[in-house]
Amino acid sequence: MTIILGIESSCDETGIGIVRLESDGSLTLLADEVASSVEQHARFGGVVPEVASRAHLEALVPSVTRAFATAELELSDVDAIAVTCGPGLAGALLVGVSAAKAYSAALGVPLYGANHLPGHVAADTLEHGPLPAPCLALLVSGGHTQLLRVDDLATKITEVGSTIDDAAGEAYDKVARILGLPYPGGPPIDKAARRGNPDAIRFPRGLTGPRDAPYDFSFSGLKTAVARWVETHDDLPVDDVAASFQEAVADVLTAKAVRAATELGIGTMVVSGGVAANSRLSALARERCAEAGIELRVPKPRLCTDNGAMIAALGAHLVAAGVSPSALDLSASPGLPV
Ligand code: KG4
Ligand code: ZN
Repeated sequence: MTIILGIESSCDETGIGIVRLESDGSLTLLADEVASSVEQHARFGGVVPEVASRAHLEALVPSVTRAFATAELELSDVDAIAVTCGPGLAGALLVGVSAAKAYSAALGVPLYGANHLPGHVAADTLEHGPLPAPCLALLVSGGHTQLLRVDDLATKITEVGSTIDDAAGEAYDKVARILGLPYPGGPPIDKAARRGNPDAIRFPRGLTGPRDAPYDFSFSGLKTAVARWVETHDDLPVDDVAASFQEAVADVLTAKAVRAATELGIGTMVVSGGVAANSRLSALARERCAEAGIELRVPKPRLCTDNGAMIAALGAHLVAAGVSPSALDLSASPGLPV
């Protein structure tokens, strides 16, 4: 049995997770503390890197203290530390990486640099157990929109497709701004869409033409189409625009993901990242995966958005796979690929 401390600070959430890796390879989540600086960014309509870094500095140590109190453990019980080393905001990542190095050196335990992207997929293993190999991950967040073939969470992940412009969450945030809804835009659009008609306006589905890349995504044209529609109509039926926009996003994401799984012969799909918390996306994914005979796994919303538990979980997979720890010169890698 191994206790892993996970530290996440790639964007605006300071996440501290504690996971126990059992001798049979299963994971038990012991603590999951998230301190968000989202309210400090709201008036700017997006994350301000310097504000995020300062907030991580202030929140990190108190979050660690709270996590150990919840888990009823001492720092000296930790056997390994995993920290997000990329991708993300450079200054924000450095706060987590520096803290993780300090804890690792002080406690004399190994340090693992963890990639945020497979971290989102690892979150699912905390709720639904080990992933079958291979599986297809649809990773949809504020910074990323990717289809990943996961043969082994610790050692073998291949990108199948990605967005060529905006991430899905970024499209939500930009459309919310156009509609006068608060930041971050996903939750208020999700809420407004429940009252609206998804068929009211037929917004474009990017990159779905016969000659387009089959597994890549594009959301900037959709965002522009919403802006143009709003500019050219006097009355703004916010609920209908939100529902129609949301339908276009969920339609493209699920159609492409199911197509990829079917064509690549993959029987299990994991949808994760902040946008996986979207009610229409999960409902449509459920419907289309059932039709195609694909097993669908979607972690609960708290595990979909950024958190430290997912990094502790990925750390546990790295430990279990016998991956070599990182050296103490581990650095933040803002553009780290998957
Ligand atoms: O994974 P995450 O917490 O952070 C990143 O790594 O980016 O994702 C944040 C994104 C934001 O763009 C937010 O608007 C979106 O996830 N989001 C949602 C919902 N909840 C959060 N998008 C659609 N529907 C939601 N219910
Ligand atoms: Zn994320």
